[in-house]
Amino acid sequence: MSVLIKNARPYGEGEPVDLLLRDGLIAEIGSGLDADDDTEVIDADGLVALPGFVDLHVHLREPGGEDAETIETGSAAAALGGFTAVFAMPNTDPVADNAVVTEHVYRRGAEVGLVDVHPVGAVTVGLAGERLAELGTMAASAAGVRMFSDDGHCVHDPLLMRRALEYSTALDAVIAQHAEDHRLTDGAQAHEGVVAARLGLAGWPAAAEETIVARDCALARDAGAALHVCHVSSARTVEVLRAAKAAGTRVTAEVAPHHLLLTDAALTSYDPVNKVNPPLRTGADTAAMRRALADGVIDCVATDHAPHPPQAKDCEWAAARPGMLGLETALSVLVHTMVEPGLLDWRGVARVLSERPAEIGGLAGQGRPVEVGEPATLTLVDPDAQWTVRGARLASLADNTPYEGMRLPARVVATVLRGRVTARDGEVRK
Ligand code: DOR
Ligand code: ZN
Repeated sequence: MSVLIKNARPYGEGEPVDLLLRDGLIAEIGSGLDADDDTEVIDADGLVALPGFVDLHVHLREPGGEDAETIETGSAAAALGGFTAVFAMPNTDPVADNAVVTEHVYRRGAEVGLVDVHPVGAVTVGLAGERLAELGTMAASAAGVRMFSDDGHCVHDPLLMRRALEYSTALDAVIAQHAEDHRLTDGAQAHEGVVAARLGLAGWPAAAEETIVARDCALARDAGAALHVCHVSSARTVEVLRAAKAAGTRVTAEVAPHHLLLTDAALTSYDPVNKVNPPLRTGADTAAMRRALADGVIDCVATDHAPHPPQAKDCEWAAARPGMLGLETALSVLVHTMVEPGLLDWRGVARVLSERPAEIGGLAGQGRPVEVGEPATLTLVDPDAQWTVRGARLASLADNTPYEGMRLPARVVATVLRGRVTARDGEVRK
């Protein structure tokens, strides 16, 4: 089965072209290409063709959290959001701190087949921050784990973090740190600032993030290791990253869509849908996130897609779990915050949603150019679409989207993974 995409504009540049996808590759690019009976034709008039999106940070909740999301529902959300590969965080139950669990996640992802699911292995046993997990066994397993993280928790012990970074070099892996000094955030409920003070919520200082990032950059520098900083949220973290990168440290960073758009002003509603870790910060921080993503100090967008069941969110603020859905709204939030104001063009979108995350995650077959001979792993985007977000209509099992009722620009029309259409016009293809 071949696919013929008619009249798409790769990277939103130049005249529209036809792309013929065959045997998993982009076989031909030209104009007036013909389809035979066995070819699915996609009319892509007005659409932008981009390399498939890669998300370095999702929570698929399986095993153990299937009341919030499963690998199947999360994969559907990913495909509908334009993603062709996702990295599934290990804070499941049981924790993905060993090869049995990472292989299960990997195989289940392959079985569902909508998106490449790459399990992230835990850095420490049980995410407890006390003993290193068997990173080598997870790396050597069929899942080929190349990213390790205790996400949800910070690897707080500097000696343990140093060891993890040292081992990672031999495994050609990256350590993704959830940078949060727990000693500074114990009991914290909201970004430490005027809003938290007015609402009477215990403050979460930005320094809890900045200090860990500064420390980890020094440790990564000494180990010659690759450090990835998860969900950067503070303007001053950007300056730490800028200095470390300028000094040649192997550090990369991601920002979540919600930290590009939302601020702690949203907290006045007391709606726990806005509770997230790290917390929503100030307008100055979101502005800094946008600038850093434009100038490359922040390498990529990662959703931190964090589904939660109703009982974890429909409760009082302090009891609610942190986290927001992100997979199906990421592109639209990025277009709204970065493309519309002129901070990023479609080449830039390809860079931050596909090329850079594929490089950081070590994926050879993703984030490739839209060119003949390359994998047919693509996302077709309607740049002129407008839609209203409704949590109940999202493919995720959970509905904790902070964008409920918001009108957002741009929509994913089709997603193609190695020549197979995985989503089209809002429906997944099983
Ligand atoms: O908001 C968050 N939710 N931040 C994290 O680091 C973990 C995540 C989760 O697992 O729900
Ligand atoms: Zn995290």
